[in-house]
Amino acid sequence: MPYAAFRSIGAYVPQKVLTNEDLTKMVDTSDEWITKRTGIKERRIAAEDEKTSDMGTKAAQIALSRAGIAAEDIDMVVCATISPDYFCMPSTATVIAANLGIKNATAFDISAACTGFIYVLEIAKAFIESKTKKNVLIIGAEKLSAITDYTDRGTCILFGDGAGAAVITATEDKSEAIVDVHTASDGSFGDLLMTPNGGSGSKHDALDKEAAGCYMQMKGNETFKVAVRTLTQDVRDILEANGIQSESIDHFVPHQANYRIIKAVGDALKMREDQVVLTVAKYGNTSGASIPMAINDLYESGELKAGEMMLLDAFGGGLTWGSALVPFAPLK
Ligand code: COA
Repeated sequence: MPYAAFRSIGAYVPQKVLTNEDLTKMVDTSDEWITKRTGIKERRIAAEDEKTSDMGTKAAQIALSRAGIAAEDIDMVVCATISPDYFCMPSTATVIAANLGIKNATAFDISAACTGFIYVLEIAKAFIESKTKKNVLIIGAEKLSAITDYTDRGTCILFGDGAGAAVITATEDKSEAIVDVHTASDGSFGDLLMTPNGGSGSKHDALDKEAAGCYMQMKGNETFKVAVRTLTQDVRDILEANGIQSESIDHFVPHQANYRIIKAVGDALKMREDQVVLTVAKYGNTSGASIPMAINDLYESGELKAGEMMLLDAFGGGLTWGSALVPFAPLK
């Protein structure tokens, strides 16, 4: 049976930086409040003409080049995004595939909000283990600034733009295999985080995003509590199911939503500070892009070595959540 191996990582962040100080000129807030409640200091904002697919393409180019795999050898492209280029079609994954010169590959987007990267990882693993695909490009890319209401201080301080990508390929070597991926959802909490209209359930004027309800709305406090409770249990479960102790994890890479959520989950699992990867201060919450962007930071700082075990966890709108145990397995 083939196993799925996590071969490479790449990421892209737009140039423009939006600091907490900048936000104080837009809404009634302060650097002190944002830093204390979220740990975020700044986030990146895409250029007006820069699409989610543009960022995803740049991240994917780096991931492909680091994997040493040619675009023509990719047989599936899956993109996790809640801010696709187009409302319905074409999918962002097909645009990215075309930009990269990938032809005849299966390509589609998935919508699982901040848990998106764990979902695409599970999809890649399942397709490879079932021998349906061999070389899968997975991407998390978001232009959240396009769906953020910059008059709502409860949400606009949190979100940013960016993209990350990884190449997952088949291997016969079990020591390289992604150990486990777990995903789940509970739609009865759907109203905690949502873009309320703009879909088939409503009449809307797409040009007036506010009236159309296309901007993100969130019940932050309730979301926070459910996130801590659900993530702590989910991570405990995946460690226990695989007989792995938290102290033997090399890198804990949580979704970068809020430092306080990361700290609460990390403390409950007795993670040491040196195990926890943190990028939330400089990128804010980039939803489906946040985990691969964080893995890329780890890689570029020289701290991610072949064979090291990553524990990923995420939580997001839907509600969705998930976790994964992933050894870094670059091709020699
Ligand atoms: N600046 C200053 N004050 C703000 C503010 C801001 N940006 N946003 C909210 N406030 C105010 C509220 O109006 C409220 O004021 P009141 O007490 O006078 O009514 C007060 O701060 C407390 O609001 P609350 O929403 O209870 O704050 P909180 O401690 O829950 O922090 C979040 C708000 C959004 C930072 C926090 O709830 C959070 O991070 N939640 C999880 C969000 C998340 O991670 N979502 C994505 C999941 S993937």
